[in-house]
Amino acid sequence: KTAEKGGYEHFMLKEIHEQPTALRDTLLPLINHQEGEAPSLREDMMPLGADEVRKIEHISILACGTASHAGLIGKAMIEKYARIPVDVDIGSEYRYRDPIVQPNTLFIVISQSGETADTIAALRDAQQKGATVLAITNVVGSTISREADKVIYTWAGPEIAVASTKAYISQLMVLYVLMLDFCLKRGKMDAAQVSGILGELLELPQKAQLILDQKDAVQKFAHQFFDREHAFYLGRGVDYSLAMEASLKLKEISYVHSEAYAAGELKHGTIALIEEGTLVVALATQDALFEKMLSNITEVKVRGAKVLALVNDGNHQIDNEVDYVWYLPPVSNMLAPMLAIIPMQLLAYYISLEKGCDIDKPRNLAKSVTVE
Ligand code: G6P
Repeated sequence: KTAEKGGYEHFMLKEIHEQPTALRDTLLPLINHQEGEAPSLREDMMPLGADEVRKIEHISILACGTASHAGLIGKAMIEKYARIPVDVDIGSEYRYRDPIVQPNTLFIVISQSGETADTIAALRDAQQKGATVLAITNVVGSTISREADKVIYTWAGPEIAVASTKAYISQLMVLYVLMLDFCLKRGKMDAAQVSGILGELLELPQKAQLILDQKDAVQKFAHQFFDREHAFYLGRGVDYSLAMEASLKLKEISYVHSEAYAAGELKHGTIALIEEGTLVVALATQDALFEKMLSNITEVKVRGAKVLALVNDGNHQIDNEVDYVWYLPPVSNMLAPMLAIIPMQLLAYYISLEKGCDIDKPRNLAKSVTVE
């Protein structure tokens, strides 16, 4: 049984460990990368030509579940660096709100399986309105890959565990590459800047491995806190989008009630739920937002929360404020989300393991939801 799982106890743990490979396999086909030369984007692999990219006035990302969480990070990156306005819609909501499709909108649908009914329906709706749809999917030959106007693949390999891990991180990789391509074609970055960031992307697999090598620390933490009924994940900016994915991972496989909250919104309600012993995971990887996160952390600490913080390498400002700190390997703020999700996946995994849940096949959930 464990043979098909590569010696791991569960597919989810195997797939978490396959993330360095998934990142590499997804990135390499999209770039020129010769020893001793600066890496660059492979123009023949980019889904849109320069004219098409320059024409885009608006981007609409459509996806469900974890893929929609990847979309939120994509939105943040594309808006911040390429300066194109982006909306993210959940497939099942998009059609029913009679969306306004602006001229020159690019649709991006994201789907691991390429078979999610609500995402397919949203794709068809967008096409009927005359829009171009670019798909990011992991399955060659899937409905979405066949119906979309353009496709860019993630090469995560088959994902068996219901909770998505390596597909999510590969979707992020594609979104970062697209962002760089858009920046280049719209004059927001020059070739040297893009090359510098591609260099950092190339280092991610090795850094992801460093996190995996420290998984025992996560397991220890999980052992202490698996019995909590509630957990809150706090973050600002991309850390908030990440918090949504981290929180989904925990609740879907361990049935711990968990919520993701924009840390600044805490005062508008949720803080009432924080009491002695409540588990709070604070994601604080963004320097510009760090001071604000620190004050949110203090707010929950004084109410008795047990706080686990995830911060950048070398940031010791928080050490005495919280109960546990995990440090990311050195990484730019821009790329931090791609590493920060890994300890969160491990946390969900080990809490589920402690609770004896059916990790790979959580109750009531399907890997691919083919009904609307
Ligand atoms: C199901 C799965 C989720 C997944 C979502 C979207 O709900 O359980 O893990 O994120 O579908 O799937 P897709 O294949 O479209 O990415």
